[in-house]
Amino acid sequence: MSRAGDRGKALARWLGTGLLGLFLLPMSLSLEVSVGKATTIYAVNGTEILLPCTFSSCFGFENLRFWWTYNSTDVFKLLIDGTVKNEKSDPRVKLKGDDRITLEGSTKEKMNNISILLSSLEFSDTGKYTCHVKNPKENDLQHHATIFLQVVDKLEEVDNTVTLIILAVVGGVIGLLIFILLLKKFITFVLKKTREKKKECLVSSSGNDNTENGLPGSKAEEKPPTKV
Ligand SMILES: *[C@@H]1O[C@H](CO)[C@@H](O)[C@H](O)[C@H]1NC(C)=O
Ligand SMILES: *[C@@H]1O[C@H](CO)[C@@H](O)[C@H](O)[C@H]1NC(C)=O
Ligand SMILES: *[C@@H]1O[C@H](CO)[C@@H](O)[C@H](O)[C@H]1NC(C)=O
Repeated sequence: MSRAGDRGKALARWLGTGLLGLFLLPMSLSLEVSVGKATTIYAVNGTEILLPCTFSSCFGFENLRFWWTYNSTDVFKLLIDGTVKNEKSDPRVKLKGDDRITLEGSTKEKMNNISILLSSLEFSDTGKYTCHVKNPKENDLQHHATIFLQVVDKLEEVDNTVTLIILAVVGGVIGLLIFILLLKKFITFVLKKTREKKKECLVSSSGNDNTENGLPGSKAEEKPPTKV
């Protein structure tokens, strides 16, 4: 009986989440944050890279807060934190976690661009970069978008490696499938041959040899009786 209750509760929760989602949907469409199409960016150590981020808000904004965070497996840090007064002003940086970071782009003329430039790249800069935006005009609605940065030695090599890995995996899978098919065929063939051989030898010592009368060694009598 408690099981039915649990199920009812789960259903209620599910419905509740669904309804809440319906309510939130029009709101979440108003503020959007985007880091562009690429979810992973490759950059060479020692160079610089632009991490793109733009936002859009159909209600307009005032004292909009934006910040970038960095996250890797063992590190989490705030990279840059600032505000944009209104649609006619450029962003003002309040806090910067690293001298190698500069805020690029502009928030004037509906550009809403809060991209950052990361210079003197080190291998340890590899990780997740998240761009957050919070708009007080929209109930402090917060949105964010994440980009993954991979700092590498050389660009081409990584591309080749990735392609090679993909090709190798695809090739490996296809090869394995073919191998399995062949193996199956081979095993079937061998089994058939073995069975045939057994028949030929007229030996049926194994218990699972089901001859019609069930008698071991009676396979020879399977032939139609010959008239004398
Ligand atoms: C990139 O890192 C390698 C290995 O640490 C180093 O030898 C090389 O000088 C670095 N390249 C740049 C441009 O800093
Ligand atoms: C950082 O990333 C890890 C692994 O993806 C995740 O478990 C963790 O919640 C993230 N931390 C923050 C503060 O976002
Ligand atoms: C944002 O600004 C940077 C720096 O000016 C620029 O390179 C980039 O193309 C801009 N992004 C968009 C989407 O306009």
